[in-house]
Amino acid sequence: MEKTWWKESVIYQIYPRSFNDSNGDGIGDLKGITEKLPYLSKLGIDVIWLSPVYKSPNDDNGYDISDYRNIMDDFGTMEDFDEMLEEAHKHGLKIMMDLVVNHSSDEHEWFQQSKSSKDNPYRDYYIWKKGENGQPPTNWGAAFGGSVWEYDETTGEYFLHLFSKKQPDLNWENPVLRQEVYEMMRYWLDKGIDGFRMDVVNFISKDTSYPEGEKAEGALYGNGGPHFMNGPRIHEFLQEMNREALSNYDTITVGEMPGVNVEQGKLYTGETRNELNMVFHFEHVGLGDGKHGKWDPQEWKLTDLKEIFTKWQKGLENEGWNSLYWSNHDQPRGISRWGNDSDEYRVISGKMIATCLHMMQGTPYIYQGEEIGMTNVKFESIEDYRDIETLNAYRDLTPNFLSYDEIFKGIYERSRDNARTPIQWDASENAGFTDGTPWINVNSNYKEINAEAVLADKDSIFYYYQKLIQLRKKNEVIVYGTYDILHEDDEQIYAFTRTLGEDKLLVICNFSEDTPEFVLPKNIEFSANEVLISNYHVDEAQAIDRFTLKPYEARVYRLTK
Ligand code: NOJ
Repeated sequence: MEKTWWKESVIYQIYPRSFNDSNGDGIGDLKGITEKLPYLSKLGIDVIWLSPVYKSPNDDNGYDISDYRNIMDDFGTMEDFDEMLEEAHKHGLKIMMDLVVNHSSDEHEWFQQSKSSKDNPYRDYYIWKKGENGQPPTNWGAAFGGSVWEYDETTGEYFLHLFSKKQPDLNWENPVLRQEVYEMMRYWLDKGIDGFRMDVVNFISKDTSYPEGEKAEGALYGNGGPHFMNGPRIHEFLQEMNREALSNYDTITVGEMPGVNVEQGKLYTGETRNELNMVFHFEHVGLGDGKHGKWDPQEWKLTDLKEIFTKWQKGLENEGWNSLYWSNHDQPRGISRWGNDSDEYRVISGKMIATCLHMMQGTPYIYQGEEIGMTNVKFESIEDYRDIETLNAYRDLTPNFLSYDEIFKGIYERSRDNARTPIQWDASENAGFTDGTPWINVNSNYKEINAEAVLADKDSIFYYYQKLIQLRKKNEVIVYGTYDILHEDDEQIYAFTRTLGEDKLLVICNFSEDTPEFVLPKNIEFSANEVLISNYHVDEAQAIDRFTLKPYEARVYRLTK
C-alpha cells in the first residue's frame, strides 16, 4: 500500500456560516476562521475542509453557487480568503475546498444565459427537456421535495434539478462545460489550495435516456436514483477531471457519494485508477431510516453498524482508502446520534465514539464542535429552523404523512440544523460566536458546553481528540494496520484489532450504558500489553483476557508478542 500524507492526516470540517463571526453580522466569516487557526493547530488537525464560501444566494447555504471565482459577501472578500489560506499554511494546515459542480445556482450567469433562449451558447450547460402532454419528462422526485423538473415559460421546456429548483443540474455531457469546470478548479489550485471535497459528485453522469423511476406504494414521485447515481460515464468524467485539473498538483480529494457501494468505492478510490482518494459513503448514516427516510427514524442495531464498517474496512483493504466520519453539516451531532447526549454520558460516550472511529483504517474527519462535545438542538418552533431540507419536509409531510409530534421527533434526531447551530466558544451571550444576532439560534446548552470550558479541563473531550491525533502521528499501525473485527455478533461491544507487521492494537468500545464483559479471543497471542488511550482510568496491571466494561468505555491496548 502506498504511504501518503492524506492517509496520515486528520481533517476538520468548517461550516463557515456557523463557525465564528468576526464582524457582528450574525454570520460566521473568513476572518473569523483566520482568528481561530491557532485553536485548530492546538487540536492538531492537518487539513481543513471548508464548506462552500463562493458567491451564492444561499437557497441551500452556499451549495448553490452563483459565481465560482468569488467569495460570498457574508463571508468577506477574496483578500480575506487569501489571508486565511496563507495563515493556514503558516500553521501547517492545508485547505480542502468544497467543489459543487453537479449543479450551480439558478442565479449563475451560465443559467441566466441558458434559460434565455434555445440557441444561446450556454443552453447546453444545463439539462433541458420537453415534457409530454403537460407532464414533466420523468416522474423523479427531488431531494428537497417536488419534481426534479421545473418548467420554464421563456422557452417552454423543463430543466433538471436534483435538489431545489434554485439548483439546476449542470450538463456534464457537454465537453465545453466540463472544460469550464476544470479551468475553475485550476484557478483555485493555482491559488494554492490543497484539494477538493466534491459535492454529490457521483450524480454528474445521468442515464441520458431518462427512464421513469420506480414508485413505492403511495409515493408521489418515482425514484430517479438508479438513473443518476454512479451513472454510465462517471468514471470517464472523474478520470478526465483528474488528468485535466488534479494530476499536476499534490492534492487531497474526497467524493461525497450517496448510494455508493463497496464495489464502486474500489473503482473510485483504486490506487491505479486516477479518480479520487476517498469517498464518503452513506450506509451508516442511513441506519434506522424509516418509511419517510430520516424523518421517521427507527432504532438501529450495533451489529448493523459493525457490519457496514467491516464491509468497507475489508472491502477497500489494499485496494482503495476509507474516509471515516460520524457527522458533518448534513447529519445530526455525532454524540447524539451514536453515543448518548445525557448529562451523565455525553463526554464519556463522545470520547468512546471518537476512539472507535479514529482507530479504524482510513482518514478521520472531525466535524466542527465535535471536539468540544456539542449535541443536537431542540428548537420549539419550526420558525427557528433554517434548513431548506427540514422546512420542505415539514411542509410536505405534515399532517398527511406524519403528525406534528412525529416530525418533530424526526427533526430533533436528524435535521441538518442540529449540526448547524453556532460553535459554542464560551459562556458569554450567543456563546461568543457573534456580537450580533446569530443567523440561527445558539443551542441553549452553551453555558456548560463550550470551547473555553474544555480548554480549561485537562480531562476534556478536546484533549482526548488531541491525544487521538497525536497517537496517529506516532503509530503507523493506526494509519496502515489491517482491521479485523472481534465478536461481530455482540450488540454492545465493538471490538477489533489493527495489525501492521509485529505491531498490534486491540480496540474495545462499549456502545451501551450497560456493563458487558469483554472476553479476549484465545487466538490473539501476546506477551505484554500497554494502554494507548482510554476514556476511564484503567489499571494497567489488570489482566485483559476477561474484564467488565463501564458504560461507554473505550480502551485501546498495544499488544506485544
Ligand atoms: C450535499 C451537501 O453536503 C448538502 O449540504 C447539499 O444540500 C447537497 N449536497 C446539495 O448540494
